[in-house]
Amino acid sequence: MKKQKIINTLPEGGGARRRNLIHWIFSSLNIYRPQKDGSIIAHKQITILGLKFKIKKKPQARKLPTQFGLTKKQLFLRLCDYQKLYLNRDYSFFEKLLIKFQIKFATKVIIPNLDVHLTTRCTLRCRDCSHKIPYYQKQHQHVMNFDEFRDELNIILKNCSRLYNLLLLGGEPLLNPDLAKMVQYAITKRKIERICIITNGTMVPDENLISTLKTSKKNVVFISDYSLNKDLKNYQPQKILDICKSNNVACSIHKGGYWAKQPDLCLDAKKDIELSKCNFKRCYFKQITLWSNGKIYPCAYSKFINDQTNNKFDSQFILLNNKNLGIKEFKKFFASKYFDVCACCDMTHYGEKIIPAIQLEDNKS
Ligand SMILES: C[S@@+](CC[C@H](N)C(=O)[O-])C[C@H]1O[C@@H](n2cnc3c(N)ncnc32)[C@H](O)[C@@H]1O
Ligand code: SF4
Repeated sequence: MKKQKIINTLPEGGGARRRNLIHWIFSSLNIYRPQKDGSIIAHKQITILGLKFKIKKKPQARKLPTQFGLTKKQLFLRLCDYQKLYLNRDYSFFEKLLIKFQIKFATKVIIPNLDVHLTTRCTLRCRDCSHKIPYYQKQHQHVMNFDEFRDELNIILKNCSRLYNLLLLGGEPLLNPDLAKMVQYAITKRKIERICIITNGTMVPDENLISTLKTSKKNVVFISDYSLNKDLKNYQPQKILDICKSNNVACSIHKGGYWAKQPDLCLDAKKDIELSKCNFKRCYFKQITLWSNGKIYPCAYSKFINDQTNNKFDSQFILLNNKNLGIKEFKKFFASKYFDVCACCDMTHYGEKIIPAIQLEDNKS
């Protein structure tokens, strides 16, 4: 059989490839091999006294904590972890004290991460997009304008005591013509700790955006790492990184390597509380809530399913234009341990490793 190329090796335990005595005595290495269908099989290679053993790894979803139903201690630990993982930042002693204080005395909800759909348009058409962007039908397309952003953000902030990470994305956020104005507005909001733009690296930020970004240390640009896919056109992460660096704007390539297979959808699934609870427990999406087109959803898939089923699941989401909306509705939403919509996700292949940003051919969408 023809030997397959190893596409990505992630050293563990301090660099397993170095041939020194310690690694000859014991080392371990994750090896990923791409398959023709785009999936990736993985195994762990362990070396003991120079002898190499292969251990098959079970495909599994990345284990990330949830913001739903968290204890205060869990929430605190998770915020610290998140900052360390994604922002390369450790909290100082006093910052930690402040966060603990905020969590302890919060009477409103604390939102660790809020994804925002600034647009459902994109420059790429990724087959396995976790936001289902290439599969959006015309009638569900939406581009958020500045007035919507300002008014809805104010409603959200009125009902929460802290929003740690406001994640501006889509689709491709740089396609939204009001992006710089939105960032400028969000900077003025005391309750927002960090404003992150997540871009696919195919568009270079213009001068207006860069000059807004450099006015506050709250801002950070993340470029998704699609370097495993050599076929992408216009992917220019280094250029964006250089522009940001030369303007003193925090920017990093979101190193992840592989993507995870998303759930298959079962739009006509019947209400099944046990299944919903079980799926919700497994889902790593619940780390991030989604604000899109006037509503807050538990995840990007729930938004897509709700659109496809004529807003069947609206009663469990937050409708930002509801006149009676208040802290009670926010607390109920964030205390939920499951949502009815979760029964529509088939998790059979969920979490298997795949190559990022494989593009759809035109007739496949
Ligand atoms: C939906 S994208 C939107 C922002 C922008 N268009 C981009 O691609 O970076 C948000 C993030 O989700 C990640 N993502 C999308 N599909 C994914 C998948 N199947 N598995 C893991 N991450 C995924 C992207 O790499 C990106 O970092
Ligand atoms: S670049 Fe890919 S992952 Fe990002 S929104 Fe567009 S289609 Fe989805």
